[in-house]
Amino acid sequence: MRNFDETTITEAVLARVANAADPRVRAVSEALVRHLHAFVREIEPSFSEWEAAIGFLTGTGALCDDKRQEFILLSDTLGVSMLVDAINHRLPDGATETTVLGPFFVAAAPELPLGADMSPGVEGDPLYVTGSVTDPEGRPITGAIVDTWHSDDDGYYDVQKPAEEEGHFAMRGRFRTDAQGRFHFRTIKPAAYPIPHDGPVGKMLEAQGRHPWRPAHVHFMISAPGYETLVTHIFEEGDRYLDSDAVFGVKDSLIRAWPRHEAGQAPDASTSAVPFHTLTYDFGLKRLD
Ligand SMILES: [Fe+2]
Repeated sequence: MRNFDETTITEAVLARVANAADPRVRAVSEALVRHLHAFVREIEPSFSEWEAAIGFLTGTGALCDDKRQEFILLSDTLGVSMLVDAINHRLPDGATETTVLGPFFVAAAPELPLGADMSPGVEGDPLYVTGSVTDPEGRPITGAIVDTWHSDDDGYYDVQKPAEEEGHFAMRGRFRTDAQGRFHFRTIKPAAYPIPHDGPVGKMLEAQGRHPWRPAHVHFMISAPGYETLVTHIFEEGDRYLDSDAVFGVKDSLIRAWPRHEAGQAPDASTSAVPFHTLTYDFGLKRLD
């Protein structure tokens, strides 16, 4: 076949991918071609616009390394991450709702004993976090891994710090639930922050008339044998960005008050010389099918 034009090119490409041995590869390829061609027909790009699009994707890839993931940001800010998450988490009652993983998870975060301070030496208001992990019937899960991470009170994660601080894990840690399925740890209160917007995704948001901010939150990834790993955040009630999160990640069930307490006895029975905040959340895991 040859002499393809606007009316024949789509069918020609679909015919070419129809021989894929893997039926999933075939289905995904066909959908990609159909939707991509329809997109191009709708916007009728000029050559300069098409070159700009290639440049945008090239720049997005060029910014990705083991510390910066511009493609996740692109997926997040276009609502694709939350759509994929929603499709994969049609949860039963008793399971905590999920939200985006985000680009700042570090798989090698240290395991710490219950009650540990996971942000020693980091400036900020103390935050005491307590909670539990249960099955869909509300029974405690012992030995669940609670992996948690968040920004500092300027809105930056440890992996965004200067190179001389590389290797220093701060504001992240892994804890194991006790015999009652409970966990607790100490950290500092994170702030709302703008997603990294000095790259192609930032330029896209600006062109679209959007801000890059996310409401203050603490990330959690909770796993236990026999259960689906839970990836979620807990947001601070009252944050100004709850209704305009740049990555569409907020759900009502994930918002909690982080009340402020005057200096005095803290939840871990120690005495805090300065005012502190508390955050409590009880997580429910979904059983694996
Ligand atoms: Fe985050």
